[in-house]
Amino acid sequence: MSKGHNSGVVTQEQVGGRFEIPRVIPEMRMRRMRATAPLRSMVRENHIRLEKLIYPFFIVEGKGIRNPISSMPGIYQQSIDEMLKEADSMMNMGITSTMLFGIPQTKDAQASSAWREDGIVQKATREIKRRFPEMTVVADTCLCEYMDHGHCGIVHDGKILNDPSLEIIAQTAVSQAAAGADIIAPSDMMDGRIAAIRAALDVNGFENIPIMAYSAKFASGFYGPFREAAESAPQFGDRSSYQMDPANSREALREIQLDIQEGADMVMVKPALPYLDLIRQARDLTNLPIAAYNVSGEYSMIKAAAANGWIDERRVVIEVLTGIVRAGADIIITYHAKDLAQWLK
Ligand code: PBG
Repeated sequence: MSKGHNSGVVTQEQVGGRFEIPRVIPEMRMRRMRATAPLRSMVRENHIRLEKLIYPFFIVEGKGIRNPISSMPGIYQQSIDEMLKEADSMMNMGITSTMLFGIPQTKDAQASSAWREDGIVQKATREIKRRFPEMTVVADTCLCEYMDHGHCGIVHDGKILNDPSLEIIAQTAVSQAAAGADIIAPSDMMDGRIAAIRAALDVNGFENIPIMAYSAKFASGFYGPFREAAESAPQFGDRSSYQMDPANSREALREIQLDIQEGADMVMVKPALPYLDLIRQARDLTNLPIAAYNVSGEYSMIKAAAANGWIDERRVVIEVLTGIVRAGADIIITYHAKDLAQWLK
């Protein structure tokens, strides 16, 4: 008779091989608490909560526009009217925060569409707050989408200037707050921007609007799909003179400390997955809320693998987002938010 098929009980003798193996009885049995689904839930340490997720929108001028972004299945460039329909369904699903990115009709060397009163993000913010006052609108404050050269600051002689850029960034932040944004989130990585934005918000009567600083933002290959979505790829060079070197963690902690000193209310690590160690170090460094940006390339990889049938999308997304929470993030900006809300309900 073949091994183990007689009684349903496999004995040590039956599995035994060529060598003499002493029998060791485990002192502690970790598997006790994994035996049933209710037990596993009882001891589960980390959870994803929908109210901690921020779902980005890419907004274009016009009406009735909903252009799929080929590298980000399920995500669209859309006009304000279409975006409001999605905002409505989001609210019904329990996703109550959004981050807005604008694709302006015209770009120039001063990013003037970034801070105009009728700029695309300003208009979208006013419409969302009018229709859904209880929705939290996070304004991504940056210039790259509005600059003809696609960089996050003023360019002179092929260089990205720091100090002159601060004024435009602060101008943009105040215009976003004036339109009704609940949180200002500067993503440009210029030095001194948090202090500049805080001062500008305060003198314009927005002393109660918090700043979520993209503090540790790395020069990452994972932003590729976003740049298709936001039409914000730099037209020369790259962003490595202002965004961080992916190899550096001590420098990231200095960036975070500086932003806190300058008045940040929340700090961010971006991207999320290759930088989970930094999310943890940020968590240990400060008691401020920590945000993590689960960026476009992280989303696209999962979507592509799922479309090929190589991974179970639902399982992998829950695993990824739970991992980001476990690392120490309080808030996650993620394109998976709506899918997740559907799966969790
Ligand atoms: C703007 C900005 C970028 C992202 C968020 N804000 C792109 C960049 O820095 O080039 C990337 C987000 C994503 O990849 O999902 N500076």
